[in-house]
Amino acid sequence: MADIESLLKEKRTFKPDSDFTRQANWNKKTTNEYRKLGDSNPTKFWAQMAKENVSWFTPWKKVLDWKPPFAKWFVGGKINVSYNCLDRHLEGENAWRKNKAAIIWEGEPGDTRVLTYAELHREVCKFANVLKAQGVKKGDRVCLYMPMVPELAIAMLACTRIGAPHSIVFGGFSADALRDRINDAEAKIVITADGGYRKGAPFALKPTVDEAVEKTPSVDRVIVVKRTEQPVDFRAGRDIWWHEAMAEASAKCPPAKLDSEHPLFILYTSGTTGNPKGILHTTGGYLTHVTTTHKAIFDIKDDDVYWCTADIGWITGHSYVVYGPLANGATTVMYEGTPAHPGPDRWWDLIEKWGVTIFYTAPTAIRTFIRLGDEHPKGHDLSSLRLLGSVGEPINPEAWMWYHRVIGGKRCPIVDTWWQTETGGIMISSIPGAVETKPGSATRPFPGVHADIFDEAGESVKGDGGGFLVLKQPWPGMLRGIWGDPKRFKETYWSTYDQTYFAGDGAHRDKNGYFWIMGRIDDVMNVSGHRIGTMEVESALVSSPDVAEAAVVGRPDEITGTAIVAFVSPKGTTIPDDALVGRLKKQVTKEIGAIARPTEIRFTNALPKTRSGKIMRRLLRDIASGREVGGDTSTLEDFSVLAKLRESDDD
Ligand code: PRX
Repeated sequence: MADIESLLKEKRTFKPDSDFTRQANWNKKTTNEYRKLGDSNPTKFWAQMAKENVSWFTPWKKVLDWKPPFAKWFVGGKINVSYNCLDRHLEGENAWRKNKAAIIWEGEPGDTRVLTYAELHREVCKFANVLKAQGVKKGDRVCLYMPMVPELAIAMLACTRIGAPHSIVFGGFSADALRDRINDAEAKIVITADGGYRKGAPFALKPTVDEAVEKTPSVDRVIVVKRTEQPVDFRAGRDIWWHEAMAEASAKCPPAKLDSEHPLFILYTSGTTGNPKGILHTTGGYLTHVTTTHKAIFDIKDDDVYWCTADIGWITGHSYVVYGPLANGATTVMYEGTPAHPGPDRWWDLIEKWGVTIFYTAPTAIRTFIRLGDEHPKGHDLSSLRLLGSVGEPINPEAWMWYHRVIGGKRCPIVDTWWQTETGGIMISSIPGAVETKPGSATRPFPGVHADIFDEAGESVKGDGGGFLVLKQPWPGMLRGIWGDPKRFKETYWSTYDQTYFAGDGAHRDKNGYFWIMGRIDDVMNVSGHRIGTMEVESALVSSPDVAEAAVVGRPDEITGTAIVAFVSPKGTTIPDDALVGRLKKQVTKEIGAIARPTEIRFTNALPKTRSGKIMRRLLRDIASGREVGGDTSTLEDFSVLAKLRESDDD
């Protein structure tokens, strides 16, 4: 509550700079016109965007076929994502882009690689032929479990070239998590690397894949990129080196003419149950959404050097490291490693070195840099920057102001962009040449996006007020379903309100129509901008033979936004000691990955429950946030008294 109050007391405003507005892709006039059209006729607005920003082999017959909650966009249109991201920059009036840098890549050890559009096109065509030679056909799923290397972008684009949907699993997930995701998507092939670099040392990926694919009947090939030169086990007949397969591949591969609704990718994200959801995105609508928002919100120009720091394993990396920027013919920067290696100024060094003009990152990173001290960014020339972006979590006004002052030199507009894995692209954000910003607010919905705030009864909250964030009209980048589970798709997103998408976030709208996102209101935690379901962590904990019951909650954390706190009730004779804490943290790391490891584990003889047997999470959240705890462990807590006091609290 304190956070919400401090946000809503925020009174500072920043008008778009007139010099910026003058050169902006979308100025006030265009933005207002688009807003008007998007409000009155969203399908007409999106159709116009699809025509202007995306290339089609065959035009669509119908813009939208909406049978709630199932949408089809640009029905009958034929399109290819890799054609849009590559070929169209090599032909006609854009042919000059042939030798423009498409990807500027830097590895953590300092090695670099710059791929021009022509080179990237060649690599993608070759790898598409490798996939074909390995028996991958249109519609087959390909799992990518890779470090941040150019081969990841090449593999993604190669999949889109032949119409094989990819499923990227973030390299920090464990073998168990990887295996579940491969099996859910029934992937035919896994692409990985020997390893990558993080925090100054190589980490291994191939052994994790070897362990995962022991129990994945659908996988018959593993393609391995050589990155770190670590020794790897190679299974003859199953494993193939990337560079060997590429050496023989032809660089000719025409893009498949795919239906607009052809599946483009699956990306798993956490929900309120133990199993992650495979969010399905399709081709024409998604590409229209990310290309348009990238052009308008990041004001992308041909001479920009654009850097989004997200790992490609998350949706931000899909939409705004790879597809949006490349479809717009931009230069996109990819960095392999951690922000603070070899020193706390690595990112600022990269900005100076490559002349980055547009920089998009997450509040957790910004807060970490605030703590590290201003001297690190101040020691670098950041004058190339002209626009900053934020994503993934609410940005507190103090962090916003620091970003504005220290990184942006008070001259760069900030776009705070609200969206989700499910929305595919940005939904609420400032347009830098048109919209006045307020620190901590994502400002207003993008044209064509009908966001609203509902109360519990499903009434729109009028005037200044808070409630649940919803989307009342379909949009082109929207998820088309949960892979293999239409029932869960309906229940999760479309059953709270009639024909309205329920985002799972709480938000406030002020009297000027500005949205202030307050964060998740379901049992999903947002840790450093990454979604982790409380249930997922709980099921990992209870799979330990030492645990009778577990409840997991988030507590506010100054840097990561949320920290994971687990309340664990051990089995009969188990001693709740530091060794048990260590075992349980290891268990979660094994089942999910280090990102889900609880910050704190607290033992209790029983979990507080309501009369109907529901765990009183609200109470646990209060306890987790309210009390100072020195170490990891505390003695066995007794909630029975508290539980009795709250017995009437049966919600
Ligand atoms: O709670 C919101 C938060 O991140 C959630 C979506 O997480 P994910 O699907 O992993 O995608 C993250 C990157 C798009 C949302 O439900 N969130 C995302 N952006 C913002 C945000 N919260 C506040 N402000 C934002 N700009």
